[in-house]
Amino acid sequence: MKNKTVFITGGTSGIGRETAVGLAQKGAHVVVSGRDQTRGEEGVADIKKRSGSQQVELILADMASFAEVRRMAAEFQERFDRLDVLINNVGYLPKERHLTVDGIEATLAVNHLAPFLLTHELLPLLKASAPSRVINVTGGAPFGGRVDFDNLQAEKSFLALNTYTHAKHVMSAASFEFARRLAGTGVSVNVAYPGSANTNMTHDLQPDMFPWFMRLMWPLFRRIQRSSKAEDAAVSSIFLASSPEVEGVSGKYFNTKGQESSWAKGLITNGVPERVWRISEAMLGLEEKALI
Ligand SMILES: NC(=O)c1ccc[n+]([C@@H]2O[C@H](COP(=O)([O-])OP(=O)(O)OC[C@H]3O[C@@H](n4cnc5c(N)ncnc54)[C@H](OP(=O)(O)O)[C@@H]3O)[C@@H](O)[C@H]2O)c1
Repeated sequence: MKNKTVFITGGTSGIGRETAVGLAQKGAHVVVSGRDQTRGEEGVADIKKRSGSQQVELILADMASFAEVRRMAAEFQERFDRLDVLINNVGYLPKERHLTVDGIEATLAVNHLAPFLLTHELLPLLKASAPSRVINVTGGAPFGGRVDFDNLQAEKSFLALNTYTHAKHVMSAASFEFARRLAGTGVSVNVAYPGSANTNMTHDLQPDMFPWFMRLMWPLFRRIQRSSKAEDAAVSSIFLASSPEVEGVSGKYFNTKGQESSWAKGLITNGVPERVWRISEAMLGLEEKALI
């Protein structure tokens, strides 16, 4: 990974931080994002210490704001002259439904629209750095696999884990469409499932954030969650960012071990990816840019 620049959103803690350590160890120039200067500096110091690399830098933005995402993308392009790997790792699992400053349901905004926008904004640099890679980190319950266009912003029903899983499904469908539209440009787009990890995001989970049948298994689930390491959950992202085996591979879904797995059919058939794409562009006002 020497001479490669990797941008990991949410790289200041949890799975993103472990991904940063692994890629810095491989010689990459790593840029991590977070929201807070102090937490960010602590994260960068830890990544430098554990990787033995000094090539680790911080960029700040609250990805719950589209203006902030745009500003961060502009700042990135001012500060860095290439981007070989973008890892859209930030995730959000709120207990209750609420709206962002842009008036969008926050789970959809942070898990899907923010990485969609960031990838769009950084496309010129990704294309100029080709072959380059985009890795979108998914998550949520291992069931379902459909996009509910009538409840995109949880207007009709909200349940923390279901809404979060759904937002990740929307993001995954959009990733498939990104890959299709970017075919031949040298920019690949894949989805990585990290698996469970004991992180800030999962620390405050409560049974009422889960569907009833999962509540029944709460003590077991909690035990597994608490004993799962962020380091193990970074395997898939590190593999997809660095392995020559996946050079040119695009539009695929990878499991916790970095193995290619089947897509949930409901996410990639019946025009779902294209519909998600068009709705997302419209929500972000991106249609006129027509980058791809
Ligand atoms: N942990 C799990 O069990 C699990 C399972 C499946 C999938 N995932 C996925 O894996 C990814 C990483 O999750 P994690 O568990 O490692 O999370 P985490 O430990 O809570 O880390 C989240 C990172 O994202 C940053 N962040 C959070 N909200 C942000 C926002 N609004 N704007 C900008 N940065 C923000 C945090 O930075 P600051 O707080 O410093 O600002 C931190 O660097 C997510 O996409 C998640 O959905 C996690």
